Amino acid sequence: MAAVSSGSAIVDVSRFDLKQAPWHCDQLERGKVLFFSHVPFDFPDADREFLLSQKQTGSRFHKNISYRPAKDLLKGVDENSPDRERMNTIMRDFSASVTKFVSQFLAPYAGKMKLDFASFRPLEEQGRDLSLHKRNDLLHVDAFPSRPTHGARILRVFANINPSVGRVWNVGEPFHDFLPKLMQKKKIGPSNSLGRTLAHMASKIGLPVPDRSPYDEFMLYLHDWLKENADFQKNTPKQELIFPPGSAWMVYTDGVPHAAMSGQYALEQTFIVPRKALVTPQVAPCQVLEDGNYVPRARAV
Ligand code: CO
Repeated sequence: MAAVSSGSAIVDVSRFDLKQAPWHCDQLERGKVLFFSHVPFDFPDADREFLLSQKQTGSRFHKNISYRPAKDLLKGVDENSPDRERMNTIMRDFSASVTKFVSQFLAPYAGKMKLDFASFRPLEEQGRDLSLHKRNDLLHVDAFPSRPTHGARILRVFANINPSVGRVWNVGEPFHDFLPKLMQKKKIGPSNSLGRTLAHMASKIGLPVPDRSPYDEFMLYLHDWLKENADFQKNTPKQELIFPPGSAWMVYTDGVPHAAMSGQYALEQTFIVPRKALVTPQVAPCQVLEDGNYVPRARAV
């Protein structure tokens, strides 16, 4: 495995000090994975046991479960399932608990970041039968087709609630390191006209069209391009990270190429952090792309 050129990708913040909140933000923005040996927010044992018990009761929760805090909406659990209400409560509490912690641990973002979706991932990541663009075990940066960010960043907080098995990731160099190198080798970028034509056609027939900026188009294209590119997958410097049972971590998944290689039973909460809240905005993907003239300059959001 090749080493990450700019040192270790992971920073152990298990013994954190809330006075260091701006430094936590800076490390994340520069592409570090912040690691906690134990879940740093309230998460009751009873909730964890309920989620894990799903394996004993068969495949009632056979796929990933998502939760939308703003609407208190749970997806991926059968409407008639007797466990639905409990699941909804657990996800609601998890989301609130993570948010409370992040508002202190990353205090510069408090009141500015937007709470996005949460998820419970009960499936074993290794050997899942998914199409290339959906595969989690290929290095990629995150971009949400239905939720354009217009340059705001995607921060994700994870907890491995598996009692005995670690979750294994590969991570690559941060955006401000890998993207300029990639662009030197190959001119990549979306052929904007196709996306625009499709969006135009969709709007004509009345389909909802996400209001994507050139940045969003670029990031969606990059997500797919990285997964398709065998040379990048094989040769880009990367590091294997193993998140032990009971640990938690946070990372900007729009900037750090990541791949989930194996593991089962993870919880995750996503936050959208606007550009104006960033403490080190010069390394934000949108800024890197604007500085390289790969996307036009946008009004900061
Ligand atoms: Co991802």
